[in-house]
Amino acid sequence: MTAQPRKNADRAPMLVYKDVRKRYGSFTALDGVSLHVNPGEVVCLIGPSGSGKSTLLRCTNGLETLDGGEVLFEGKPLPKSDVEMRGVRQRMGMVFQNFELFPHKTALENVATGLITVKKMPADEANRRAMALMAKVGLSDKTANYPSNLSGGQQQRVAIARALAMEPHVMLFDEPTSALDPETVGEVLNVMRQLALEGMTMIVVTHEMSFARRVASWVVVFEKGKLLEEGPPTQIFDAPLKERTRDFLSHLGWDG
Ligand SMILES: Nc1ncnc2c1ncn2[C@@H]1O[C@H](COP(=O)(O)OP(=O)(O)O)[C@@H](O)[C@H]1O
Ligand SMILES: [Mg+2]
Repeated sequence: MTAQPRKNADRAPMLVYKDVRKRYGSFTALDGVSLHVNPGEVVCLIGPSGSGKSTLLRCTNGLETLDGGEVLFEGKPLPKSDVEMRGVRQRMGMVFQNFELFPHKTALENVATGLITVKKMPADEANRRAMALMAKVGLSDKTANYPSNLSGGQQQRVAIARALAMEPHVMLFDEPTSALDPETVGEVLNVMRQLALEGMTMIVVTHEMSFARRVASWVVVFEKGKLLEEGPPTQIFDAPLKERTRDFLSHLGWDG
């Protein structure tokens, strides 16, 4: 197998992690993680529960501070101050397992509210932008619904639209489909795949191996706070270098 060049390897990386370390008390959640994400890449993080995947995302958007190493975003180390970090976080969209929409706001208001309060956009312009984003995620007919009147998959698509409203430079997804009924998983993955095709830079923690196989440009396998293996999906899924990568995938029922 000839090595394929990694996507956009000729461009400056969007994110660089250098020997990142994170402890919770005496427990080491990240034990020296080094990796990078190029612009336009979809990097899928996979690996057993508790291996540090969520912690890495939380260290990316400043929800956690590092105990060692550094994270560079668009060439600059993440700022230490909360005020500066808030500015950086606006360039990172985050979508969690539990969508955390505002329950007392309609779907449209959920998408528009950040534009009005954070971006100081006039309400009519914010609503127009929010409408366009609702259309993008296939929910033009649900703009007036409250979250309680949307399926889990629909709520998650609103959460994606809300994150996109801020025009992030990178989207961080933490198991966005894990809490969904099986019949609504596909609609969320389709929205994510569309975003990937449009060139959005994405880091996706997922157990959806067929999504990772088809959509990821790079796959990173975590184990006990370290990188076990990283490579293009063809390597990870068809010919992993590490026996433990193979064990993890077969444990999930992946048989290539
Ligand atoms: N706030 C916390 N306090 C203590 N331990 C934590 C905390 N957050 C995560 N951990 C521990 O760190 C480890 C890695 O967690 P996490 O990054 O959530 O793993 P993953 O997302 O791969 O399942 C887990 O063993 C978890 O219990
Ligand atoms: Mg997690």
